[in-house]
Amino acid sequence: MASLVNEAVAKISSTLGPFAIPALAVFGALSVLSIGLKAVNAILSLFILSGTNLRKFGPKGSWALVTGASDGIGKEFSLQLAAKGFNILLVSRTESKLATLATEIESKYASTQTKILPMDFAANDSADYDRLAALIKDFDIAILVNNVGKSHDIPVPFLETTHKEMNDIITINITGTLKVTQLVAPGMAARKRGLILTMGSFGGLLPTPFLATYSGSKAFLQYWSTALGAELKRDGVEVQLVVGYLITSAMSKVRKPSMMIPTPKGFVKACLGKIGVKGTAAGMEGTITPYWAHGLMHWGVTALGIFNGTVLMKNLGMNVSIRKRALKKREREAAQGKKGL
Ligand SMILES: NC(=O)c1ccc[n+]([C@@H]2O[C@H](COP(=O)([O-])OP(=O)(O)OC[C@H]3O[C@@H](n4cnc5c(N)ncnc54)[C@H](OP(=O)(O)O)[C@@H]3O)[C@@H](O)[C@H]2O)c1
Repeated sequence: MASLVNEAVAKISSTLGPFAIPALAVFGALSVLSIGLKAVNAILSLFILSGTNLRKFGPKGSWALVTGASDGIGKEFSLQLAAKGFNILLVSRTESKLATLATEIESKYASTQTKILPMDFAANDSADYDRLAALIKDFDIAILVNNVGKSHDIPVPFLETTHKEMNDIITINITGTLKVTQLVAPGMAARKRGLILTMGSFGGLLPTPFLATYSGSKAFLQYWSTALGAELKRDGVEVQLVVGYLITSAMSKVRKPSMMIPTPKGFVKACLGKIGVKGTAAGMEGTITPYWAHGLMHWGVTALGIFNGTVLMKNLGMNVSIRKRALKKREREAAQGKKGL
């Protein structure tokens, strides 16, 4: 073994010159140091550092606007922001669910006010945006949570994606988010404070076959949000893309939490505690991956490379098999439905 190493050293020196070995040694040491620093950064940011105190974005009694507020992650943002003393403006599709949540918030937190605005983002109806603009005209909105989102019903090849599903994903995830932000951000910029959170996803971090349209929509939000953050920094408005892997919800269709899959409650608690902590998302500017296991995964895939071919094919294989299972489940349910008739 030692003779093999000596032979290799002699060959490198004779081919590349006498400085090649010291140069390679320095390169090796710097690489090890860089890996060590990244590991320290990941541990500090995910397990030790706390995020910005939310009071920086608005005093008690200022408002938080949450889209997709009636269920899952959005419902948790609404509940936890109310617990922190913000009044809550709930925007979502189903009026009855919004009204129930508003009552729950007001009964839990006596001094908290709520308003609800039912709207279907898929309709992209300008009258809805006009109603929202009128409603928030005199509100001090400190926090905007762009949470509303839609994914594919089940993983599907792009060529078989229906026009409706494609349009809904783009209209809800992208158009809705951009339009609401244009209504809310000017007030924040004028007040020189505010926080805009937008729900990203590992689907936007990694190109995700069989969820191609969803993946592209979340990648769009990643670039848009980071660019917007740079623009609004000078106005004192903080903009953060929030990256999550799987979280139990109606959308993910995962019911049972695990170490890798938190509940919305655990995910949102982690998120509100890590605002502005850069290292959680492998150093990506304007981005947090707040839940610790997702953060470690983010560091891992970034080290491999987000366009890594092996990861891409693994993702494809996983979604092909999820699709097979989902189609079988549909068949079973259809058969049971027929029997029931
Ligand atoms: N769950 C995950 O594993 C995961 C992972 C990464 C990122 N995300 C992102 O997190 C966000 C929230 O996801 P979730 O899992 O909490 O979803 P969810 O449980 O399905 O809740 C979605 C919320 O959005 C509302 N909504 C859906 N379509 C709407 C429309 N057309 N117009 C108005 N409101 C609409 C729903 O209202 P109704 O109650 O009326 O249906 C509901 O309040 C999404 O942006 C998603 O992409 C989720």
